[in-house]
Amino acid sequence: MRRKYYQTRRIGIIGLGYVGQTLAAFLADGNIVTCYDIDKSRMQKIKESKKGDIKEKDLNLYIHRAMDKNKLYFADSLLEMLDKSLEFLFVTVGTPSYDDGSIDLTAVNSVAMSIGIELSKIKISEYMCPLTIVLKSTVIPGTTREFISIIEKYSKRKEGKDFYVVYNPEFLREGSAINDLEYPQKIVLGGSRKSLKEIKEFYEEYYVDSMGIDGIEEMIISTTYENAELVKYANNAFLATKISFINEIANICEKTPNTDVGVIAEALGLDDRISPKFLRAGLGYGGSCFSKDVEALIKYSKEDALVLKSVFRKNKYQREKPLTITDAWLGKDKTVAILGVAFKPETDDIRDAPAIYLIDVILKGGATVRVYDPEVSAEVLISKFDGNLIVTASAKHALKGADYAIICTEWDEFKKLDPNDFKLLMNKPVLFDGRRIFDPKTFIKAGVTYYGIGHGKHDA
Ligand code: UGA
Repeated sequence: MRRKYYQTRRIGIIGLGYVGQTLAAFLADGNIVTCYDIDKSRMQKIKESKKGDIKEKDLNLYIHRAMDKNKLYFADSLLEMLDKSLEFLFVTVGTPSYDDGSIDLTAVNSVAMSIGIELSKIKISEYMCPLTIVLKSTVIPGTTREFISIIEKYSKRKEGKDFYVVYNPEFLREGSAINDLEYPQKIVLGGSRKSLKEIKEFYEEYYVDSMGIDGIEEMIISTTYENAELVKYANNAFLATKISFINEIANICEKTPNTDVGVIAEALGLDDRISPKFLRAGLGYGGSCFSKDVEALIKYSKEDALVLKSVFRKNKYQREKPLTITDAWLGKDKTVAILGVAFKPETDDIRDAPAIYLIDVILKGGATVRVYDPEVSAEVLISKFDGNLIVTASAKHALKGADYAIICTEWDEFKKLDPNDFKLLMNKPVLFDGRRIFDPKTFIKAGVTYYGIGHGKHDA
């Protein structure tokens, strides 16, 4: 909307996962975007409903608007998409992990092969300018060069002459993805000077109205493929390290009278070399990226990766805390209330969520679990577990008759619960506040057995 003098580009996106859907919706504001995913039923669902199939603020609005304005299309095949004389083709397929934690590049490599095969069928002269392929999936260093050699092999064409390849990692956060795309803090571009030219110009034009040319120049880092690939891992690993670090300080606080990790984090955050972000102690990080990326980086490093291994171990230790601090959850006669399942508030994503780990162990220990999350659907939860799992319609319902309650996600609505809710509804009011949402003193004074994170015993 702000892009007054912007020239419309023809863009393709392969892979309609989290990044693909949000990127497609966002770029279709000002460009003509065509999407393709090998999961045809997923694509069809998005096309027919004019909605994303993930929960993300403003996503549905953007998709609906773009489709109504004929800016967003879904192709039946890769060839159909490439035939639209694309200028940019973004690749946003998933890079999951193998069981040993190393990265599984099957999807990236098979997309490279398919692009190569289809490119070989298209006459290059039909293009107004050479296609720039922008790989966005999180990949270990060396992957983009391999990606290029696969495309070259199957297309019999040359990167740098017939097409260009750029590596451009994505830094958006779930829950604020569209906003993060609208106001990026950095754009990292890996490639040769020649391959980067078109994409740099595209980003400069796209963001000039909101950031000014100086703002964009400061934000764009043009570098080698390998640097760009490693930046993404370093970024996530650093944030994960901050979280494990503050959780370590929280554990030290628990052994030190008259301390509170919240106060310590606040003071640390005032130092602008540290910043206050990602210093919230709790049950540790979850989500689709942090554990996966830290593990992949450990595997890739082939060094001892001492810091990263500790970050990873600390995160595991942290999510086990509600189970090691008491046995109020163990046995057939016990009922445990789990409040919050999503890996963070404002999403329904449960990938690598601490709550999923806890529910699994508690059910295996024989107890009944009563669970509530405002966004995660009952079907999803029921299909995930065997055992005595009851999905309830509210936090208060989950607390009914429970012997132990664990707060796993800091949803705002949980902050409204008071000690009496726990005392009156639970069989025994034993609470583990895994996200530090309550004041321990108030709860202890009211007669709740309160376990938290990062509170030292208070003398007064
Ligand atoms: C993260 C990164 O923040 C994005 O920059 C990156 O693009 C994305 O991964 C990715 O690689 O795709 P996201 O997974 O959406 O984004 O989640 P975050 O908001 O970063 O939170 C991650 C986890 O850390 C959550 O479980 C959250 O509860 C936890 N966390 C966060 C803490 O425990 N303490 C904090 O202080 C901050």
